[in-house]
Amino acid sequence: MFELDLAPVVAFKERVLNEEGAVPSCERAVLAADLREDWGAALREAGFDPAARTAWLVEGLLIYLETEQADTLLSALTGLSAPGSRLSLSEGHAPGRMIAENGADQRFQALTELWRGGLGEPATDWLTRHGWQVTVHGKDELEQAYGRPGLDIGAQGFLVAERGGLD
Ligand SMILES: C[S@@+](CC[C@H](N)C(=O)[O-])C[C@H]1O[C@@H](n2cnc3c(N)ncnc32)[C@H](O)[C@@H]1O
Repeated sequence: MFELDLAPVVAFKERVLNEEGAVPSCERAVLAADLREDWGAALREAGFDPAARTAWLVEGLLIYLETEQADTLLSALTGLSAPGSRLSLSEGHAPGRMIAENGADQRFQALTELWRGGLGEPATDWLTRHGWQVTVHGKDELEQAYGRPGLDIGAQGFLVAERGGLD
């Protein structure tokens, strides 16, 4: 597993995990990377094999990026995705609506002022246009599957996309 996040967040997470004596249950490589910049080379240097199928988890990230940055990130990720790779993220309300709804709430201010809007279109549309087969698991389905009615996931559902090409 490769985990990429901003340097201060990586440092915080590692400190807490060490303090708690947490031990990963798989091989884990942690990379300090700003995903608005070029991160592909660092990922490859850390041992990532673009010829192997990958499961990408991009949960809760895109809203922190400008539209062009989110587009560039997903394009880079798509280029590193062998046939049969999968990508998951929460498919939410439009970021503009979330910012409008929560932006005035002081409790969320520290969070919402970091939001940049993300893709500017549903991720389903972007991914379908770029050769991914998308399935969205709606909120009701997730609530039932996890036995947690009334779950507040802050999104309409969870998206799973698969890169075609495997027969
Ligand atoms: C809402 S959290 C999602 C957390 C994630 N699902 C997880 O389980 O760790 C958003 C994450 O995106 C990271 N992030 C935001 N902007 C970033 C950037 N430019 N480069 C790398 N990571 C970024 C934040 O540091 C934070 O860890």
